[in-house]
Amino acid sequence: MALKINSLGGYIHEYQKSVNDPEGFWAEIADQFYWRKKWDKVLEWNFEEPNIKWFLNAKFNITENIFERNLFTHADKTAIIFEPNDPKESPQHITYRELYEKVCQFSNVLKAQGIQKGDRVIIYMPMVPEAAVAMLACARVGAVHSVVFAGFSSSALADRIEDCQAKMVLTSDGNFRGAKSIDVKSVVDEAVAKTSTIEKVIVLQRTGIPVTMQEGLDLWWHEAIEGVSTENKAEEMDSEDMLFILYTSGSTGKPKGVVHSCGGYMVYTTYTFQNVFHYNPGDIFWCTADVGWITGHSYIVYGPLISGATTLMFEGVPTYPDAGRFWEVVDKHQVNQFYTAPTAIRALQAFGLEVVQKYQLSSLKVLGSVGEPINEEAWHWYHDHIGKGKCPIVDTWWQTETGGILISPLPGITPTKPSYATLPLPGVQPLIVDNEGRELKGNSVEGNLCIKFPWPSMIRTTYGDHERCRNTYFGNYPGLYFTGDGVKRDEDGYYRILGRVDDVINVSGHRLGTAEVENAINEHPLVIESAVVGYPHDIKGQGIYAYVIAESNANMTDTEDELKQEIILTVSKIIGPIAKPDKIQIVSGLPKTRSGKIMRRILRKVAEGDVSNLGDTSTLLNPEVVDEIKAKAGLA
Ligand code: WT7
Repeated sequence: MALKINSLGGYIHEYQKSVNDPEGFWAEIADQFYWRKKWDKVLEWNFEEPNIKWFLNAKFNITENIFERNLFTHADKTAIIFEPNDPKESPQHITYRELYEKVCQFSNVLKAQGIQKGDRVIIYMPMVPEAAVAMLACARVGAVHSVVFAGFSSSALADRIEDCQAKMVLTSDGNFRGAKSIDVKSVVDEAVAKTSTIEKVIVLQRTGIPVTMQEGLDLWWHEAIEGVSTENKAEEMDSEDMLFILYTSGSTGKPKGVVHSCGGYMVYTTYTFQNVFHYNPGDIFWCTADVGWITGHSYIVYGPLISGATTLMFEGVPTYPDAGRFWEVVDKHQVNQFYTAPTAIRALQAFGLEVVQKYQLSSLKVLGSVGEPINEEAWHWYHDHIGKGKCPIVDTWWQTETGGILISPLPGITPTKPSYATLPLPGVQPLIVDNEGRELKGNSVEGNLCIKFPWPSMIRTTYGDHERCRNTYFGNYPGLYFTGDGVKRDEDGYYRILGRVDDVINVSGHRLGTAEVENAINEHPLVIESAVVGYPHDIKGQGIYAYVIAESNANMTDTEDELKQEIILTVSKIIGPIAKPDKIQIVSGLPKTRSGKIMRRILRKVAEGDVSNLGDTSTLLNPEVVDEIKAKAGLA
């Protein structure tokens, strides 16, 4: 495919074209994919309902664009390099032909187990090639996959199963994570017991730990595929058929199922993969995300594989067996493009340069950053010590809802500026508004980041609740998609993402709703009320600070420290370890306005450790608790 922009002039030209004639622009790109039947119309949209449709009535299957289209040219090329958790276990190189056969075979298994087009299948698996096989087999038979990060708890998993009424779970016996191995199947058992829709669970043997297999429900992966044909004809999908659901946190309620559809997602992730990482045939691409997040969907699996690239899947953690693991893997597999999160960079930076200096890192050409704002210090360290000053950094801004990268430099083309995501990609029309929804035109402005025109891989709906999609993303500023992020456009027109402006916090690049964490804390029997805010954290970007009002009845035997430990356990159980509060402060009250609203601004200031300017507190019902909270936090 010839999708690549090669110069700054080329970028400006393409960008102009994408704004002046979006349909012509995307049709030309989409033409390079394999469709059984092409579209009747490129785009139909409004942001009121919202109704967004790309490549209307086109028929195809996304997996035919990975496999059938390419088998004559690169059947023997490596599709996936698998680097196991334990460096002593041999890596695997899986060719396109081998992957094709595995996907076809597993597609046949899904069908034999009763999965039909449109059914929802939950994937709760470690970072092993079978996770990609599972996703692609779903796509091939037209089932809708919903990958759930395997670090989520059984109740978080149950919520997702329930919400999308899934029929099947694909999982493993256990997961390896650094020196630990983690029990997975028992988590699934608990979730399945709490829900009523799961008919089959297919279990990959990975760690070999003993598990209970329930007759009629559970099936071993290796037994299920035994003797099954490796030929399968892909289901014909409409461009707007659902490809997957991915759950993500928002400022209210339970996580919502972001829905992506087949056609637009295929075109946009492939286009952005090749341009943002300047992918050239033969390159080895490594994205360190987990397939449980959108980054893993778009830039480990779909974008690279549709491009015929070699994508590396890493099962482990950056610090095992030591903090040089990432760099060891880069050298071992001669990685050309490396894509990770600022939190990982900061964590590794803390181990010092000696760990890095043992490695050549000479294969690297492009470095990527994603998930949270990258601070200047981490940017420079990444640039100087990992990229050795010669690899452009692409700071890529996007979201689960956007499906693909929206704002990013093109490497070697867009002049970069530390901590700036720089400029929108072709097809992306950002707009900044103030809190009243007035557009802030021109340069040197700061406000709320919106997008005013659809791009192919944007969210179509939130599963089972279209109203929620409208309210969350299209209700704040009529006619615009609202991202939830604050942004600055500087004197050069460059965009710098400032972080969330809603009640969402970003912990180590993972998105969490403060309400979601509060609800989990409130499950503890001694908790009366809680309020959660983010605060700056050196490694995680943001840490979780929880203010908790606890019952002080006579039989309360717990000390404060015990209570805090129990609260942490409760949150782990209800959401997962990623949502554990970093700091808990037991308080006797929360600062509330006369209308009963918690004044989070004050709680944020205390959590940040800066109470020099608390702003207007005259509407507070209980100003005395502010003094108590400050005093207890040592800030009086
Ligand atoms: C939120 C989306 C899609 C990538 C993984 C996270 C923040 C993402 C950047 C960046 C500053 C960023 C935003 C966004 N974010 N990338 N390069 N610079 N902030 O996906 O879980 O859907 O979270 O992550 O706040 O809204 P997500």
